[in-house]
Amino acid sequence: MKTLAVTAGLTLGLLALTACAPDGRVAGRALFDQYCVSCHGRDGTGGGPSAEGLAKRPADLTRIAERNGGAFPMVRVMSVIDGYTRRNDHSSIMPELGIDLQEGPIVMVETADGVRTPTPANLVALAEYLRGIQR
Ligand code: HEC
Repeated sequence: MKTLAVTAGLTLGLLALTACAPDGRVAGRALFDQYCVSCHGRDGTGGGPSAEGLAKRPADLTRIAERNGGAFPMVRVMSVIDGYTRRNDHSSIMPELGIDLQEGPIVMVETADGVRTPTPANLVALAEYLRGIQR
């Protein structure tokens, strides 16, 4: 009986570890499905079900790097999602998602040369997911 309890404890411990494993791509995909698909579409190209009624077409998120001369602008993308850089742009119709993404762990991200900024891991996971779907 004792061994069984120990084994069960070990298994639970392992499960908890797996759940916390920082797999940015998986977490990013789940967050994307939850918060972004309605406008940007499942494939990220901008054809989500809510896109039709919008004054502006949601950006094609698979071509961010292409529009930026081939480099994926990680920091700019995070701040667009967060809403920080759009705060005064009243033409932007994308919701500010920073508050929703703040839940969970905070990680340090180098946002400029030698500047490390505490950033929600969720935001990083989403941006990494987007980097992974570039054409
Ligand atoms: C209500 C619809 C809507 C939702 C929900 C939405 N977006 Fe957007 N998004 C837009 C629109 C429209 C634009 C075009 C620019 C603007 O209006 O801000 C845009 C632009 C962007 C851009 C800028 C692309 C570029 O090349 O500059 C990024 C990055 C982006 N969205 C990511 C996301 C992510 C990630 C999510 C989910 C966390 C999300 N969006 C949720 C509508 C939306």
